[in-house]
Amino acid sequence: PPRPAALKVAPPPEIEQDDGRKKVTVFFGTQTGTAEGFAKALAEEAKARYEKAVFKVVDMDEYAAEDDEYGEKMKKENFALFFMATYGDGEPTDNAARFYKWFTEGEEKGAWLNNLQYAVFGLGNRQYEHFNKVSMFPQKKKGGAKRIIPVGLGDDDQCIEDDFSAWKELLWPELDNLLRDEDDVLGATTPYTATIPEYRVVFLKPDEGAHLDKSWSLANGYAVHDIHHPCRSNVAVRKELHKPASDRSCTHLEFDIASTGLSYETGDHVGVYAENYDETVEEAERLLGYSADTFFSIHADKEDGTPLGSSTLASPFSSPVTLRAALTRYADLLNSPKKSALIALATHASDPAEAERLKFLASPAGKDEYSQWVVASQRSLLEVMSEFPSAKPPLGVFFAAIAPRLQPRYYSISSSPKMAPTRIHVTCSLVYETTPTGRVHKGICSTWMKNATPLEESNDCSWAPIFVRQSNFKLPTDPKVPVIMIGPGTGLAPFRGFLQERLALKESGIELGQAVLFFGCRNRNMDYIYEEELDNFVAKGALSELIVAFSREGPTKQYVQHKMAEKAPEIWNSISQGGYVYVCGDAKGMARDVHRVLHTIVQEQGAMDSSKTESFVKSLQMEGRYLRDVW
Ligand code: 2AM
Repeated sequence: PPRPAALKVAPPPEIEQDDGRKKVTVFFGTQTGTAEGFAKALAEEAKARYEKAVFKVVDMDEYAAEDDEYGEKMKKENFALFFMATYGDGEPTDNAARFYKWFTEGEEKGAWLNNLQYAVFGLGNRQYEHFNKVSMFPQKKKGGAKRIIPVGLGDDDQCIEDDFSAWKELLWPELDNLLRDEDDVLGATTPYTATIPEYRVVFLKPDEGAHLDKSWSLANGYAVHDIHHPCRSNVAVRKELHKPASDRSCTHLEFDIASTGLSYETGDHVGVYAENYDETVEEAERLLGYSADTFFSIHADKEDGTPLGSSTLASPFSSPVTLRAALTRYADLLNSPKKSALIALATHASDPAEAERLKFLASPAGKDEYSQWVVASQRSLLEVMSEFPSAKPPLGVFFAAIAPRLQPRYYSISSSPKMAPTRIHVTCSLVYETTPTGRVHKGICSTWMKNATPLEESNDCSWAPIFVRQSNFKLPTDPKVPVIMIGPGTGLAPFRGFLQERLALKESGIELGQAVLFFGCRNRNMDYIYEEELDNFVAKGALSELIVAFSREGPTKQYVQHKMAEKAPEIWNSISQGGYVYVCGDAKGMARDVHRVLHTIVQEQGAMDSSKTESFVKSLQMEGRYLRDVW
């Protein structure tokens, strides 16, 4: 769609001088690194354009240690750019959560915005209900802040890089007004060529480091485990949950966390660092032209310890490592390459025709072709590299500019520490699909889980670096409060934890309120996971009613929301008594449809008009009585 024209702000107030130079703070709220990458890329490009300005890229979490500090520090900001990703149920990323909560909740925070001029680029996905909700945060509070251009609504469902480029085209003229110095050479129309980030790589003799697993076993020594400090955990149990008649697969996995220092609460998430499988790694080695046992150390600084020029360089993974280990653990090889990766590849393509084509794909003129040939066809980095065999980047460029860091995968924990204090259970369905190019895409983590060797079977069992991420998806503190749980497919996971917890409470003599579970699957004989356990929860009184929708048994599809509609009076009754409603699972289809049905139930049963219904459901959400763990 055509972009609206930039809002004009005149006259621009002076931007704070920092040793005579103008200062711009570039904040990012990032989960998988895309927002961070955009923030850094923008800062680099802006630095080249405006020599007399200082661009500081800041992780929102690291900006302030205490919440109060946010206000104090933000008051002093005159010009800021925000790169804010929206996740799951319209939530901020982990590193922006504290800032977002502080800003959007409680007393008026508008005052410190009086001096601020700002622009926001949001990262989201239009398939989700709360598309780019987080990027709207400044609008939530009244204040004197001036947004200099419309919020950029990055849509990962299409081509988010194009959205970023389009937003930048609006931004440059405004920055020209605010920051340009007469000496600056680059104008808004001058094409900018980014310098390609590169790590310093030192090749070592293979015998210079025998302990390749050093990095992960050391991780067990950390006092706190988080995304940057995962904890090595063994796989204790692995089971297939689908029945033999199913042509799909769903794995039940148990991580042993005894004496690891890890702990969790019912409803939390676990982050798992999986490894690329061998065939992917071997293909990457072949395309790069290095042998698997190439042994090297990797650095973001020069030999004398001063940082390498570019601020886009993240700290590298721990080394020395073999190329085999580095590709296995740290390189994302199966996602589509970013445009900046294509440019980096082009720089190292010895065949000029290949270099031209790569540059074209990354250029504004190649926009449509990039979105077709790369994004829509889900061409992986390796597939793209195989089409350009002359492009042989050095390892320092490959790891800094071409292959992003392999990200952890998150799962809703399917156990309760009340039942399984030394185990973290995961329920994970196998990702296995054919992409438009005919490539069979096997999900990295789900494939790893499916093939994991549990301690039950071998002392040489599988392990992974893991960490726990807290969530607010929790049972009511008063166990007598009624609960309604809606979780088809692997959306059942956290509710298995809830039910374990309720069973433990019940067995210790605590009185429980009503609990109803709506579960959905295709067919009783295929993917009805944890069937016996669910029956047992009912038999023991942890679950009052189990309602299952089978979508592929009868002539018409039965989904959880159809079953909910049939139970409208009971659901309304439960909500009226202060009950909680929980939804877990697919955000794009199921959670959206369930949300609509919940509306209808409230409207009809509560005899409300549609705006009353709207505010009633909103208030349920605000009170934390309608909680969603969706993806
Ligand atoms: P289907 O695959 O037969 O369409 C778990 O994945 C269950 O959720 C399956 O039975 C699946 O049915 C069902 N499902 C798919 N889309 C859904 C939606 N929009 N709402 C509720 N359930 C859905």
